[in-house]
Amino acid sequence: MRENVIDFSEVFNDSFDTIRLNSATFYDRFYQVFREASPDIDRVFNGVDIEKQKDMLHIAIMHLVQFFVSKEADSYLLKVAYHHKKIYQVSDEMYDLFFDSLMQTLSEFYPKYGPTCRVAWKITLAPGLELMKNIADIYDQNILGDSIP
Ligand code: HEM
Repeated sequence: MRENVIDFSEVFNDSFDTIRLNSATFYDRFYQVFREASPDIDRVFNGVDIEKQKDMLHIAIMHLVQFFVSKEADSYLLKVAYHHKKIYQVSDEMYDLFFDSLMQTLSEFYPKYGPTCRVAWKITLAPGLELMKNIADIYDQNILGDSIP
């Protein structure tokens, strides 16, 4: 790393590699931490097939990373955002708990985890999380017509 420069992409990618290499155990632990974060979240996942959910979440996180790079929201991301807002009724607070649970899990798997790593994740996931939190503004103005669901 160059002096006085923080390469957040490098910090993010190094920690994300740890998730990629341990994805089954990582997402197992993540859902445990996330469900323990609030009774509302625990309730939402009652009866949900967590095995299926784990794979979908990993793919979705890769889409969020891609969105950070491109700022192009494809139909996949719009649909996931729409489902979370309109069907699962996910609040901003729940998204914040999602992020904190993800970081708690990462800290258990990634020995180099620390404040810089957390900031790298905040920066990288911010555009996608903002899209998901604010999707109703786009949908409610009918900008996308009836095409999302
Ligand atoms: C950035 C954060 C999140 C990502 C990337 C994400 C990703 C996904 C994906 C890809 C699916 C399956 C496809 C779909 O239903 O659209 C899903 C389903 C779901 N998510 Fe999320 N999710 C996130 C946050 C949350 C939060 C905060 C909650 C709140 C508790 C939540 C609750 C659910 C529920 C209830 C389902 C449906 C499960 C089922 O019935 O099979 N998600 N999520």
